[in-house]
Amino acid sequence: MKQRGEPIAMLTCYDYPTALQQEAADVDIIFIGDSVGINILGYEGPQQVTMEDMIHHTRAVRRGVKKALLVSDMPYGAYATPDQAARNALRLVEAGAEAVKLEGGLEVVGCVASILARGIPVIGHVGHTPQSREGGRAVFGDRADEALAVFESARALTEAGIIAIVLECIPERVAEIITKALSVPTIGIGSGRNCDGQVLVTPDMLGWNRTPYRFVKYYADLAAVTRKAFSDYVTDIKTRKFPSDEHRFRVKSEELQKFRELMNRFK
Ligand code: KIV
Repeated sequence: MKQRGEPIAMLTCYDYPTALQQEAADVDIIFIGDSVGINILGYEGPQQVTMEDMIHHTRAVRRGVKKALLVSDMPYGAYATPDQAARNALRLVEAGAEAVKLEGGLEVVGCVASILARGIPVIGHVGHTPQSREGGRAVFGDRADEALAVFESARALTEAGIIAIVLECIPERVAEIITKALSVPTIGIGSGRNCDGQVLVTPDMLGWNRTPYRFVKYYADLAAVTRKAFSDYVTDIKTRKFPSDEHRFRVKSEELQKFRELMNRFK
């Protein structure tokens, strides 16, 4: 797709019903991000996400995905050594992932090589890396030396054999230069218009999460839609509007009469 100049559409996904809708919408890469922790599990940060969480959600998403490339995130602490990285990547593949993603630059090249040696494709992730930079400055690479460090990491990961790389919160012009210099596709999030593809966190773009990130486009306001549905439901219950005639099951009058007689025993 990079060679054809065809933009790659990637979204995060954590559950089966969302996977079905993303498949129907022809999303190219469906990604179980460790953002599952904050967005779905109510964790305070990405460091709390476990391998068990990732396996559980990968299995759910797998059941809904047939066409898209299914990629799972390696959570914090799951790739402290090359051996551990390969073992945990294999567990995600056994749960249904076709590739794994992990955050980091030169320091994770050994882990990437070890995962690749087991035949598991890897996507890199540089720039803002939430597992290690939580709460820090978001934009990364707005100084020349930092931008060069991002490129050097991306190049080393590419030489190790990654299939693509996420560029998170990198200035647009820097991301453009890095994209042109790399042979693998870049997938941007908050990195402007010139990456080979884009990824958004689904609860952000659906309006579930209204944290105002500059780089998010809101495609829906599901928080408002859902809240209204819940509140209409509560009103219907309190005012006895639901269930109504069309929601009930019927019983033949002879059976009802028999039942009444049987119930007489309990009087
Ligand atoms: O976990 C996640 O959602 C991510 C995306 C920001 C790419 O890593």
